Amino acid sequence: MTLIISQMENLNMEEWFDAKLQKNEMIEPKDWMPDNYRKHLIRQISQHAHSEIIGMLPEGNWITRAPSLRAKIVLMAKVQDEGGHGLYLYTAAETLGTSREEVLDALHTGKAKYSSIFNYPTLTWADIGMVGWLVDGAAIMNQVMLQRTSYGPYSRAMVRICKEESFHQRQGYESVCHLAFGTPEQKAMAQDALNRWWWPTLMMFGPTDDKSPNSAQAIKWKIKRESNDQLRQRFVNQTVSQAEYLGLTIPDPDLKWNEERQAYDFGTPNWDEFAAVVAGNGPCNKERLQLV
Ligand code: 3HC
Repeated sequence: MTLIISQMENLNMEEWFDAKLQKNEMIEPKDWMPDNYRKHLIRQISQHAHSEIIGMLPEGNWITRAPSLRAKIVLMAKVQDEGGHGLYLYTAAETLGTSREEVLDALHTGKAKYSSIFNYPTLTWADIGMVGWLVDGAAIMNQVMLQRTSYGPYSRAMVRICKEESFHQRQGYESVCHLAFGTPEQKAMAQDALNRWWWPTLMMFGPTDDKSPNSAQAIKWKIKRESNDQLRQRFVNQTVSQAEYLGLTIPDPDLKWNEERQAYDFGTPNWDEFAAVVAGNGPCNKERLQLV
């Protein structure tokens, strides 16, 4: 009898949950939720947190080598912010019943991922500008959308993080402006960094929608409000004019304005490289080993 009642309850609870989503009401930690919704969120939020913390490493590497006291202070503030973002997100994940130890163990044993972009080494100061301008610019594109995610603690963490992320993007863009309008050597350094960071940045939005195993369910549950390809396209549309203003060339021969689509057509990231980097053996991983 109990089994039937609990099945009835689950059936009603499932309907109650779906009705809340339909009404665009936030799902809160104490609310009933499908186990797979909970698991999906723990996966995404904890990996988001890992990315914030690991993102501190390539940038932190340049604090002692920043070219001015001002640049050093701004970069220190930014790296500290990223640490805070990681903590908000780990805390949001913990409201779903996981623990800090569990999610960190998943990271350390390789079960959990973090954004592949942070496997690419920051070889020059121009790279730090690209991390702010491109990487944080892409992160904002994604995180502004996630402010409307259906899970309350994640949405509220995103509102706070987006405010600080905008400063990160401006910090990077200002730094690249300084180089692009500086000496020919500085401009060449900025172009070299753009050549190395453009494509890995496009990969931050995840695989193409037809190859994204999690997106359909994420959109059904209103965890994602837009798809990987939609956000990638918006990022390209917004960034091309910034590169043109800087006098820098985006390393994509297929980049072309499409009047009919009112959007840029662009080439295809190297998805084999993406898979290799995510698996921990991409070209940059070897490069980093040589650097050490
Ligand atoms: N690097 C590593 N793994 C990636 C990836 C990337 N750039 N893009 C996708 N993946 C993984 C996914 O995690 C998933 O693997 P999993 O099932 O084992 O977790 C697999 O590739 C398939 O991708 P899907 O598109 O099906 O997965 P999602 O629906 O989760 O979409 C996502 C991927 C768009 C990254 C989504 O997880 C998301 O929006 N996450 C939150 C934002 C985030 O994590 N951004 C990372 C950067 S944060 C940052 O840079 C902040 C900066 O200030 C430091």
